[in-house]
Amino acid sequence: MSQTKEIPLMEKIVSLCKRKGFIFQSSEIYGGINGFWDYGPLGAELKRNLRTTWWNAMMREREDVVPLDATIIMHPAIWKASGHVDTFSDPMADCLVTKKRFRADHVEPQSGIALKYLSAVPSGAVVDLASQFGLGDGAILSWMGPSLIEQNLTPEYVCESFRRKIAEQLGESAAMGVPEADIESAIQRWLSAHVIAEFKVLLRPGKPKESADVVAKAFYEARGVKNPVLIRSQTEERIENSRSFNPENGAQLTEPKPFNLMYKTYNGATATEADVAYLRPETAQAIFVQFKNVVDSTRVKVPFGIGQIGKAFRNEVTPRNFTFRSREFEQMELEFFIPPDEAVRLVHGSVAAWSEGADLSMPQTNWGWEMWHRYWVAQRTAYYAGIGLGPDVLDYFWQGKADLAHYARACVDILFKFPFGTEELEGIAARGDFDLTQHQKHSGKPLEVFDEELRAAAVKLTDEQRAAFIAEVQEDWNDHNKSREDAALFCERLLKGFYVPHVIEPSAGLDRLALAVLTLAYTEVEKTDAKGNKETQIVMRFHPRIAPKKVAVFPLLKNKPELVAKARAIYDTLKKHIAADYDEGGSIGKRYARQDEAGTPFCVTVDFDSLGEKGDELKDTVTLRHRDDGSQERVKISDLLGRLLPLVS
Ligand code: GAP
Repeated sequence: MSQTKEIPLMEKIVSLCKRKGFIFQSSEIYGGINGFWDYGPLGAELKRNLRTTWWNAMMREREDVVPLDATIIMHPAIWKASGHVDTFSDPMADCLVTKKRFRADHVEPQSGIALKYLSAVPSGAVVDLASQFGLGDGAILSWMGPSLIEQNLTPEYVCESFRRKIAEQLGESAAMGVPEADIESAIQRWLSAHVIAEFKVLLRPGKPKESADVVAKAFYEARGVKNPVLIRSQTEERIENSRSFNPENGAQLTEPKPFNLMYKTYNGATATEADVAYLRPETAQAIFVQFKNVVDSTRVKVPFGIGQIGKAFRNEVTPRNFTFRSREFEQMELEFFIPPDEAVRLVHGSVAAWSEGADLSMPQTNWGWEMWHRYWVAQRTAYYAGIGLGPDVLDYFWQGKADLAHYARACVDILFKFPFGTEELEGIAARGDFDLTQHQKHSGKPLEVFDEELRAAAVKLTDEQRAAFIAEVQEDWNDHNKSREDAALFCERLLKGFYVPHVIEPSAGLDRLALAVLTLAYTEVEKTDAKGNKETQIVMRFHPRIAPKKVAVFPLLKNKPELVAKARAIYDTLKKHIAADYDEGGSIGKRYARQDEAGTPFCVTVDFDSLGEKGDELKDTVTLRHRDDGSQERVKISDLLGRLLPLVS
């Protein structure tokens, strides 16, 4: 994944995506819309395949996960309960000169010297002042000229100097009958109208101070000061790794302000603020609010999961890195519900805690949350390996206690080595009982489950054992800053067999995964044509399970009806089972190159041997060509589907 090539790798990938129909800019003919992307014919197939691999691995091949397909717009109270209305925001800062908006925590940290501009006054205003007091224009204007910067004058000094200058003239002014108090208030009015706020510019090493003056001038000009006279402070501040300046021009940014990322809309034709609704910023909340319905309508029992794939919308402050951070994207989320550790302890006497090397292959009834969390990290890692994302391209970021949301017990980000850096692909969080408890509280509807085995275990306890159990839970909760009263209420319900399930949440982004597999598949290969000319060809080495097209079928020549008829018959059979393409245009070499760029792992060519021209042995066989090593083999037409199906599904 080297970036040493003359065109940056990401640029090449973005260009290939457009040229081959993987990804297009949304609304391109109208100039595009920032943060929105469309998937073209190949991209749509790729995304669909990724969706299917997730669906199968997380639900169809498991007995303990069921699917949900909920609406994008839901009751607004859901987002209040989940905390999104109050806290789902990113810090945003604006450049004070260009107005460009940045996500404050994503600004590239910079070092250098900050120059401080204390104020600026419009040179025209100086003329006004001069004429107001009968001073010669030239006198004040020359005194207020750009030399102020060199003299490092402070605004206090400037004000005082003004007073002195006016006072010098006072004899004349008094002779003209202007009272001193009028002069003083005129100066004050003038200063408040014309002296503009303080502003800083970060001067990067090697840059002249004049370059910062240009930025400062633009700052004051943008605030209506024509021909500003800059006053720069004597003190220069050394800045290390600061995110407070625009990396493009060094201008100071505004203080970060929280910006809620949810898209608002309104329900109904006569909607008012009371009818506000939100496009969902994650698919997860629908799972929590439909938890009871799923439990009541199926035979699931904790531990079990509900999975959902669907669109989510976030008004990201700075969408970036192609589709990596978009404003409309698709999530693949699982909420896996488990009993609280206290329930496991009551039923099994102890809780299996995680330790290095623990066997995570098969869930056990005595697992606590930590084992379940580790289990899902292992499951998701195995899923990624199954579509070609092995340990060489993945990494893990285990959030420290300080990074965790207050309700979360652990969270790990699975990272992928993108060409622009190692970034999050999926988050796997142990969220405790936060979500269901919040919805229980806000909706007033019970979201507990009843566990007969738990109740039976509790019934067997003596009074002393019950008291000891409650005391232990209270002690434990106290250690985790939770109240003893809440612990007692929880135990009261638990000992009757009721609890609010806890949650492990593997939450993946489909578009990020598509981008990951596109960047991983992209390979440049040096090829020599029949005339000995060397050229670089692109081969998209997708894992066959996710490749948009699995096989392409060619007749050797398009003007030989027997070849065409046989090739079309093969194509007609294959396309019913796997995504297939038919191509009869150009030389076979060109057709291979076209399919390599599309990432098609197999090509089938019908030639004269297939028609039996060399005898019966090769009759009804075809050439099967493998994309990654270019190798070819002869395969019976009747064996083709059986050969390909296990490789691509
Ligand atoms: N329910 C938990 C949740 O939504 P998240 O970390 O905010 O957690 C989960 O999002 C995943 O969704 C991320 O790991 C990422 O893959 C994807 N995702 C989040 N914001 C995205 C965006 N703006 N563009 C593309 N994918 C995004």
